[in-house]
Amino acid sequence: MVGKRNSRLPGFYKLSVEQRRRMAAEALGVTVDELVQAIENGGLGCERADKIIENVVGTFALPFALTLNVKVNGDDFVVPMVVEEPSVVAAASNAAKMIRAGGGFEAEADDPIMISQVQLDGVPDATTAGDRIMQHRSELLELGNRAVPGLVRRGGGVRGLEVRDLGEGMLVVHFFVDCRDAMGANLVNTVAEAVADRVQELSGGDIGLRILSNLCDERKVRIRCRVPAHALGSKEFAGEAVRDAVVRASRFAEKDPYRATTHNKGLMNGLDAVVLATGNDWRAVESGAHAYASRSGTYRPLCVWRADGNDLVGELEIPLSLGTVGGPSRVHDGARMGLKIVGAQSASELAMVAASVGMASNLAALRALATEGIQRGHMALHARSVAIAAGASGDEVEAVAKRIHSQGQITLDAAETALRDVRRAAVPVRPQARP
Ligand code: MEV
Repeated sequence: MVGKRNSRLPGFYKLSVEQRRRMAAEALGVTVDELVQAIENGGLGCERADKIIENVVGTFALPFALTLNVKVNGDDFVVPMVVEEPSVVAAASNAAKMIRAGGGFEAEADDPIMISQVQLDGVPDATTAGDRIMQHRSELLELGNRAVPGLVRRGGGVRGLEVRDLGEGMLVVHFFVDCRDAMGANLVNTVAEAVADRVQELSGGDIGLRILSNLCDERKVRIRCRVPAHALGSKEFAGEAVRDAVVRASRFAEKDPYRATTHNKGLMNGLDAVVLATGNDWRAVESGAHAYASRSGTYRPLCVWRADGNDLVGELEIPLSLGTVGGPSRVHDGARMGLKIVGAQSASELAMVAASVGMASNLAALRALATEGIQRGHMALHARSVAIAAGASGDEVEAVAKRIHSQGQITLDAAETALRDVRRAAVPVRPQARP
């Protein structure tokens, strides 16, 4: 892992890709070659991809970018993001800068405990079965731990268990497994399979599924931030007005699942991008997050915002199972570089950083929506993609994007016309030959 770093890289967004690579490499303490080799071509060759999944015919690349200004528990982090949506990276960096003005993100993480589920069916007497299983607690923990000796050596292992009666003869036994720096899916599934036969004997029922739960609510992170109102303002909007508008937007999400879903989507824009860039399982993160958001019986926002004196205060709680060892980081150069860039000392620290970026994305979206609306910033970036689709390259992209954006016509037709105009204007006019 790389040492402490500064995540403030002023003017980064204005540089060319080449210049950004040089600046980032210097800030991160890696060589430009190391950086480029890891992420060029998506960080994964076809030959290796063929060893990861089945029926491979190629690989599929997405933009790999860096989010700046992120400060978590007093430390700076340059955070890699992999995402296809314009504005997400710029917005997260901007919001992280506002949050930094209030001291940055304060984060805490539970121990990295995952839940291993063993299902039992046709249990004749659920109460007796539950009691017998709990009486054999030590034996079952030992059985589980024997199946994951490497994890036990690294300081993790099976920490406890509980029995839940689901009714109609169905019991489920939860084994709580401390996965240390692993995401943990394989470890937890190994434990479930290792203990299943004995659990079955003790219950008198039939064994059912043996698998982790992605509702990893023993492995949550909590993030808090305090943003001074002045940091939220812009030329057009006073900071206090923005603060109050963000609070109203948060209240809307708290009252309405339709809005809460989109509110959380904005948060996942940032969080998922970090999950992806570090080679983690975003489907696991997504399913856990949304199940947790629904735990009251109504779908609710994961992050809420309140005014406190002159400041805006945000609070986020989310279950998050990320790993810094194992998984795709073994075989994917881009994921390995993503982990190196973020430089987290543990899976828990990575989870705190990723959730902080999610919180920044949420704030950025609410601030934009509650003031000028999302489309202005969005469309400026969208114009670039349309310009590229029309055939623009190099400096033409910016020139065409600017034209169609200022005309308020971000369409392929408009971009093709603008590209013709830009090219015509760029051709030096030859002096006419004298007759
Ligand atoms: C778009 O990807 C995300 C937003 O819709 C989030 C939100 O509405 O809060 C802008």
